[in-house]
Amino acid sequence: MSEWFETLDGLYTMAWDQLEQGVADSSHPARHPSLATISQSGWPEARMVAIRCADRAAHVLDAHTDIFSDKIASLKAHPRVAFHFWIEELRLQIRVQASVEILTGSDVAHLWAKVPQPSRQSYGITPAPGVPIPDALAYVKDPDQVSFAVLRCAIEHIDLVHLGQVHRRARFTKARDWIGEWLSP
Ligand SMILES: Cc1cc2nc3c(=O)[nH]c(=O)nc-3n(C[C@H](O)[C@H](O)[C@H](O)COP(=O)(O)O)c2cc1C
Repeated sequence: MSEWFETLDGLYTMAWDQLEQGVADSSHPARHPSLATISQSGWPEARMVAIRCADRAAHVLDAHTDIFSDKIASLKAHPRVAFHFWIEELRLQIRVQASVEILTGSDVAHLWAKVPQPSRQSYGITPAPGVPIPDALAYVKDPDQVSFAVLRCAIEHIDLVHLGQVHRRARFTKARDWIGEWLSP
């Protein structure tokens, strides 16, 4: 029997298993990928986020953010993201590229209702995120759904690298209907 990383199907299935575990378990390494965007002026930007939904059938990842954070302006200019995950235990790198829809208001009220009270602190801050303040704590948190945004990321490319005794790399794209192909690593 082959190991999971020896077949395209095995790699792909393992990657989605990891993404789903990241959503289910806050201590799983897939919980906190780096999320990369392109700024309005063309600079690359990366920051850590939590993944909140991984829908294997729909090829969608969700992250939550403050609608007043700088990344929103970047996403309005360039509605594309990359996620980067590293699962040390499996020696598996997962890179995802996706198109993004920013959802707010009544479209996400059902999701806001499920955000635990302590986590709501992340949505609603004065002044807005990224605004200079005279002192480190010169801000006020006032959780409010008005600040809550869901980044719905429709995946277009998945690139997987397994660093075993030998290195393997595979690509899966929407354009090829998710039929994988091996790449030179
Ligand atoms: C462990 C960890 C988890 C985070 N999770 C999120 C998150 O889910 N959503 C988010 O918008 N920011 C999250 N942040 C904060 C971002 O990394 C970033 O500082 C913030 O979103 C502002 O980024 P921006 O100025 O590029 O918009 C997290 C930071 C850390 C360290």
